[in-house]
Amino acid sequence: MLSIPVKEFLLWKKKQLSKGGDLQSFVFLLDCIGGISASHLNLLNINPEGNLYLKKNLDFLETIWEDHLIKSLPIQYLCGIAFWRNLRLKVSNKVLIPRPETELIVDIVSKIFGKRSQKLFFAELGTGSGAISIALALEYPLWEGIATDINQDVLEIATENYINSCSRSNLRFYCGHWWTPLESFMGKLDLAISNPPYIPKGTYEKLPKEVKKFEPKIALLGGDDGLKHIREIIQQAPLFLKDKGWLILENHFDQGEKIKQLLLKNKFTSIEIVNDLSGIGRFTIGRYK
Ligand SMILES: C[S@@+](CC[C@H](N)C(=O)[O-])C[C@H]1O[C@@H](n2cnc3c(N)ncnc32)[C@H](O)[C@@H]1O
Repeated sequence: MLSIPVKEFLLWKKKQLSKGGDLQSFVFLLDCIGGISASHLNLLNINPEGNLYLKKNLDFLETIWEDHLIKSLPIQYLCGIAFWRNLRLKVSNKVLIPRPETELIVDIVSKIFGKRSQKLFFAELGTGSGAISIALALEYPLWEGIATDINQDVLEIATENYINSCSRSNLRFYCGHWWTPLESFMGKLDLAISNPPYIPKGTYEKLPKEVKKFEPKIALLGGDDGLKHIREIIQQAPLFLKDKGWLILENHFDQGEKIKQLLLKNKFTSIEIVNDLSGIGRFTIGRYK
């Protein structure tokens, strides 16, 4: 721990913010790397007396902040951490930074299943950092889950996140293309969830630099119309879900109606397009028969 006068720190902070960037990212950096929480920072602003203890020196923090500003590198990748619901997750540039809107998937599951204490078997296809599956494994200790991804490096990060988040053993990680790793669980799933790559090609080309340049393309691009992966997931879902099993998909802002038609075509019922907090039809859910 390094000790510096609070007044010196506050002057330095003002100088860094004058270079650009947003306060939220700066606070994130100070919290993750500097070891100063947002609430501690507020207290320093109110009472700028005495000394402050930092985990890293100001030059080190400044180098990271400038990398963020100059290269548009997401602050989460620079810090190697993302916060999602109540989880602190490791992330690298192999893994999509889990988005706040995706947090609602856990609430959709809770709304469908309530606080069920009985056993249930779920799978998440394309787990990335593991955020969704880990949150469910923690929320429902009696449930058993399998989280899959096409990329073994991604699964190593997801596994590490699971181990660091709890001491449970109700989640397993398998590598492979969508349903392929689940072949021995045909007809056994009560619930399948996926936030697959769904950005249409034309939209992908126009994504902000910090997303397109640094986040994994394989986690974002959903083919020409964005529905390439969603189509495949829906078509094979009936083989893996139990009768009345649920499928929950995250989708692009305008894909809900098309996904609803795909679900109907594949004999799903109870289909619903669920809005995110901005009123966008971000999720499409349905039940197999
Ligand atoms: C949009 S990200 C979602 C990550 C995480 N579930 C989340 O919500 O933050 C999509 C994930 O699907 C994985 N993926 C892409 N193509 C895949 C495929 N063919 N089979 C399995 N997983 C795939 C990517 O590696 C990525 O981790």
